[in-house]
Order: sequence, then C-alpha cells, then structure tokens
Amino acid sequence: MKFRAVRAASIGDVDAIIVPLTSDGDVPAGLPRGVRTIVDRLKKTEVGATRRYHVTTHYGEPRVLVVGAGRSADHDVERARNLAAAGIKSLWNSEAKKVALVVPVDGLGIDRAVQAAVEGAIYAMWRPEAHRTREEDRRLPPLDTVLLVTDKPATKAIARGQAIGDAVNLQRRLANEPANKMTPTILANEAKALARDAGIECEILDEARCRQLGMGSYLSVAQGSHEPPRFIVLRHHGGRGKGYDLAFVGKGITFDSGGISIKPADNMHHMKADMTGAASVIAAMTAIGKLKPAVNVLGVAPCTENLPGGHATKPGDVFTSMSGKTVEVINTDAEGRLVLIDGITYAQRQGARRVVDIATLTGAISVALGPYFTGLFGKPESFVDVVRATAGAAGDRVWPMPLTDEYRDEIKGEVADIRNSAGREGGAIKAAAFLWAAVEEGTEWAHLDIAGVDWSDKDRAYAPKGPQGPAVRTLIALALADGLVANA
Ligand code: BES
Ligand code: MN
Ligand code: ZN
Repeated sequence: MKFRAVRAASIGDVDAIIVPLTSDGDVPAGLPRGVRTIVDRLKKTEVGATRRYHVTTHYGEPRVLVVGAGRSADHDVERARNLAAAGIKSLWNSEAKKVALVVPVDGLGIDRAVQAAVEGAIYAMWRPEAHRTREEDRRLPPLDTVLLVTDKPATKAIARGQAIGDAVNLQRRLANEPANKMTPTILANEAKALARDAGIECEILDEARCRQLGMGSYLSVAQGSHEPPRFIVLRHHGGRGKGYDLAFVGKGITFDSGGISIKPADNMHHMKADMTGAASVIAAMTAIGKLKPAVNVLGVAPCTENLPGGHATKPGDVFTSMSGKTVEVINTDAEGRLVLIDGITYAQRQGARRVVDIATLTGAISVALGPYFTGLFGKPESFVDVVRATAGAAGDRVWPMPLTDEYRDEIKGEVADIRNSAGREGGAIKAAAFLWAAVEEGTEWAHLDIAGVDWSDKDRAYAPKGPQGPAVRTLIALALADGLVANA
C-alpha cells in the first residue's frame, strides 16, 4: 500500500473518498464540489453522521464515506488513527484500489496528523482469520494507493507512519499464529528474514551457545519441551561506538502451559500469544532498521516453549542465571521472569546502558489495571518518567506502578538467592522485583507488563478482537527520541 500527500484540489480519480466530520466543525474546505455537496447533505439528513467512528456511506462515483469525528475539541492522535481506521475498515467488502483520505489537523500539527492517519489506515488492513479456508473470511480490499488530503508533502511523517503501522501489524501477525506454527525455530527464522528486509543484523543463539554463556535460568524453562530454544538477537548500529544506547528484551514463550505447575484448561489456548513481548521487539527493530535513527539499538528475544515434559523443571529446582545469581523455581508457571533475567543480563554484557523489557508477564497486572493500560515499572524514576512520556506521545497507554526494596525482600529464596514466585498479593510488582535483581548498577531499566492488554475479546476501533499490538509504538519512539543520544 502506497501513501501520498495531495491537496484537496488535486485528488483526481479515486474509488472512494473518506471524510472525517466533526459535530461542530465545517465540511473540509477545498473538496471537489460534488463531494462537498454530498457531505453537506449527509451531515443534515443522517442522524448520527458525526457520532464518533460512525460511518455513513454514499454509494456514488466515487463512493463517499463520512466518518463521525465527534467534537473537534476532543481531537487527538488516538482519534486521528481511529478515524482513518474506521474509514478504511468500511471498505473491507469493496473493490477499492485507490482512495483519498481527508486528514483533519485540529490542533495536532500536520506531521502528527498525517502519521496517525497512515498508521490507522494500515491497522485497518489487518485481520486475524489467517487460517480460514473461505476466502471471504480473510478478505481485505485490493487497496494499493491512499492519497492523504493535506496541505503539506509530509514525506517524513508518511515514512514514519508506514514503518510504525507495518510494525504493529507484524507484531499482531506473529502473536496471532498458533503455537504449532510459531515455534521458537519458526520465530527465529521469521526474525532472520525480517532483519534482512529491514537492514538490521540478526544472530540466533542455540541451546549450546546459551549454555556456554551461562543462561541456566532461561534454559531451565526450555528443558521440558522437545522444541529447541532460540535466543534471538537483533542489532541496529546507527550511532557511534560498540555499546548500545538502548536495548529491548522481549519475553518469547511460544506456548505457556505452565509446565509442571500446569495451568487450568480454560483459555489455555490464549497462551500461544505469550511471545507477544518477543514479537514486539522484533517488530520495533524492523521499524528502527527502516527509519535509521542515529543510535545503537539492541533487540533481544529469548524464545522457548514452557511444557511439562519428562525433563521439565520441578518446583523447588535451583538454577544459576547468567548474572551468577541462583534462582529457586517455586512455580514453573512463573517462567517469563526466568527467561527475561538472562535476556537482561545478556543485553548489559553487550554494553546496553538502557534496557526496556516487554512481557506478557503476570495475570496480576490485569487484576490491577484491567485491559486498557500497560503496567510500567523501572529504575531510576527519571527513566520511568521518560518512558511514560514517550508512550503517551506515541499513543500507547501505560501506567506507572510502584517498586521498592520491600518487594525485593519478598523474592529472597529459601535455599537460593531469589525465588520466582512469592504469593498472589502484588504479584505484578513482585515479578518486576525479580527482574530488578538482574539490573546492574548504572543501568537504566524499564519493564512493561502487557499481559492485560495484548489481547482483546472485543472488537476495538482499530483492531478486531485478538492481538492488539500494544507498546510497539513506544519502543520505536524511544529509539527515535533525539534526547537519547544527548543523554548518553
Ligand atoms: N504468561 C503468564 C501471564 C499471563 C496470564 C499472560 C494471563 C496473559 C494472560 C505468566 O507466565 C504466568 O503464568 N504468570 C503467573 C505467575 C504466577 C505463577 C506467580 C500468573 O500470573 O498467574
Ligand atoms: Mn506462565
Ligand atoms: Zn507466561
């Protein structure tokens, strides 16, 4: 799908034109007279034409889609994305190839408005029914050109929107695949191919190499499965020197049965998405490869299944992590933190000064925050603030959670240094405290617990039910932030 900015006067021949319309604003100026007349009429005669995300269609040549935009004072990046997505989605059953999309600016500035429109259009071009045999169940329109109706070329904003939109859809596609079609090996092969296309380096560490590096905590999760583990490493060198300004570490459990501490059957199938953190890292790195910020960024994704095979970890088993700290596995279902600590240590050994991990880590985070906010933890506070502000500007909803030494005391082991489970109260924070144990002096670290938000049971404005693509935008935005280099 190609995007191009055009002025209203030069839209030319299109199959459809999408016009967002606020309840209190005017019909966008400069549109072809025929289109203006139609929009004007729909605004007067259609009840609810300006209701948020409501689409009213006039079947003419071109087809005119009026998307309700609510009140203009409420316009923001999220709404801008949703408006574009709602317009494109209502073309799902059409044969539209070329469409014009009017970009409302209302207080956003043209660049942010254009980027949001591009993202929204791309989000609407994804659906989860990848394995349906009936073609119409998987159908998307044959869209090849989207004209963004605006007054500025906005080339950079388009490129950004495209890289980010594609990355979010990529994360969804990877997370959506069933575990038998997204094993650690398959995911590693995907990462290799994607890295090649995006111009980033990719290295895959196998079990023997991880053993040499001392990743006993990560490998303890893998030992219950016949599927070999794969530790994915991606590198973008846009800055100076050998170290990394920023590293991402993503939880890559391609299926989480719970292991010997096995999960109940209800909804266990959802645990095919327990590699969403890894998918987020891979997706963000592809966008970073395309957008080439002048920083060094490392992406790490320790991938494995968590199964209760004959060699599986038994509750009480003790392992030595790459950091040298010993870990007591109280509950084999608290496996995410076991793979992440070795990922975090690896990133620091590679010279990363800032580490952001992302994981579907705890059910407790959805008890705390529900399905709308990602839990944000970390140290020092100043870095947590940077991540929070960056996420907000990028249009991801995150909320800061507390983390103090008391929680550290809770995860002390009985026979080993730390234990991976310590009771239900404050479960998401204790999980974060466990990760904190791998963070070395001088490293800035943030942890994003996306277990409440990675999947939705309901259709949302720019994502059908299924994988939602959270936090990918935040990771990309962190790498693009100019302040990063200055603060290094
Ligand atoms: N992958 C799960 C967390 C999860 C739960 C993600 C629901 C998405 C939806 C994680 O590995 C897990 O099982 N966590 C346990 C930890 C507990 C055993 C300390 C949990 O949250 O119950
Ligand atoms: Mn688990
Ligand atoms: Zn898990």
